[in-house]
Amino acid sequence: MSDTVKLHYDGKEIELPVIVGSQNERGIDIKKLRAATGLVTLDPGFKNTGSTTSEITYLDGEQGVLRYRGYPIEQLAENASFAEVIYLLLHGDLPTAEQYKKFDNDLTMHTLVHEDIKNFFLAYPSKSHPMGQLISIVSALSTFYPESLDPNRSEEAMQLTMTRLLSKFPTIVSWIYKKGIGHPIMYPKNNLDYVSNFLHMTFGNVTDDAKVDPVISSAMNKLLILHADHEQNCSTSTVKIVGSSHANLYASVSAGIAALWGPLHGGANQAVLEMLENIKNDGGDTKKWLDKAKDKNDPFRLMGFGHRVYKNFDPRATIIKKAADQVLEKLNVSDPVLDIAKQLEHAALNDDYFKDRKLFPNVDFYSGIIYRAMGFPVEMFTVLFALGRLPGWVAQWKEMRDLKTPIGRPRQIYTGEPERPFIPLADR
Ligand code: CMC
Repeated sequence: MSDTVKLHYDGKEIELPVIVGSQNERGIDIKKLRAATGLVTLDPGFKNTGSTTSEITYLDGEQGVLRYRGYPIEQLAENASFAEVIYLLLHGDLPTAEQYKKFDNDLTMHTLVHEDIKNFFLAYPSKSHPMGQLISIVSALSTFYPESLDPNRSEEAMQLTMTRLLSKFPTIVSWIYKKGIGHPIMYPKNNLDYVSNFLHMTFGNVTDDAKVDPVISSAMNKLLILHADHEQNCSTSTVKIVGSSHANLYASVSAGIAALWGPLHGGANQAVLEMLENIKNDGGDTKKWLDKAKDKNDPFRLMGFGHRVYKNFDPRATIIKKAADQVLEKLNVSDPVLDIAKQLEHAALNDDYFKDRKLFPNVDFYSGIIYRAMGFPVEMFTVLFALGRLPGWVAQWKEMRDLKTPIGRPRQIYTGEPERPFIPLADR
């Protein structure tokens, strides 16, 4: 296969190199295109545009393959702890026992959040959305660590900022949950591992320690791993484009959380559950709702279906569907919405509209059913997605900095008015 492409334009021939990835992925390197031809490329939504090379996550949407640093997602979800996966994403390899001990210790050293952060919770209206709270608190962390505003400090200082954010995030998420249910916040217990500590602060209370069913701990660990990274998705790209201006890590991740909130991205997990509830309350007529999703005059889409890159199946959805069955069975929860989800999935997978467009259930289709069985309100679902995705954002942000990526600044094709003279207000 040729390792260049030739472009003929305006009587000239320009040769552009083809970049080949470690899995034989190929892309045209257009870095010199504009200088050689005056042309830019146009690709709304970046459907054909690679923004970077990356060693972190490999994804083959045609084959339904997802690997972090080479490890298949199925094996990680089955065998690893979430903290091991955080280490893997950040450092490139699974930790040895000794490395893990130190990493775990570093993570637990910083779980306390400044007491003044509690004042934020007094100020938010009681019904404020948890994602709005999360965006502002993560951004506000920068005000508590002013030295972190400059991302060009020593490697050691950057490590500390990354560790602080990863450590404090579960504490913040649990406090947001407590605000929602009107209970006093819980402090971290540093003899617990990352996921157990989060569950302790979430489901424990000041009168009783949390009695977390091992089924819940194991499902939470799995869900966090499955969400931990997904290469250059919308929120990760947002984190990186903000970070490319040398904004601090807290501000960059806060922007990523804002991107995640949208229902076409992480907000889909809340939207799926609300959709399934609506279908149930509407008598469970799945055909009617499928028709609505297919109707181009109706803005409704089947939430939790379709994906920009998966055109076969989403391997995360396969694992989550199985986990949903197990969790509900072991907790002895019967949720009619799970039956509706299965009917809807079956109907969609046998429908030409969905088949022709290669639309399959994605990671968000079944996750909300598990979160609900665990006792989370729907508004918390996307916050839990953020808790899982945080290591991916941090690892990708770090890689972007290590690669010395220039500031993200796309071009455009201007289609507005040509130059025209100003007309004073009285003459218009
Ligand atoms: N329901 C109905 N039609 C759909 C759906 C859907 N869920 N998804 C895509 N389509 C149709 C779309 O209307 C278009 O049809 P046509 O070719 O006739 O114009 C075709 O399929 C291609 O869709 P697209 O919008 O061009 O694809 P995209 O890659 O730009 O969008 C997506 C991907 C995930 C935003 C979209 O599939 C969607 O809106 N899905 C529902 C929201 C959702 O579940 N999002 C979570 C994504 S996975 C987790 C994450 O990334 O956070």
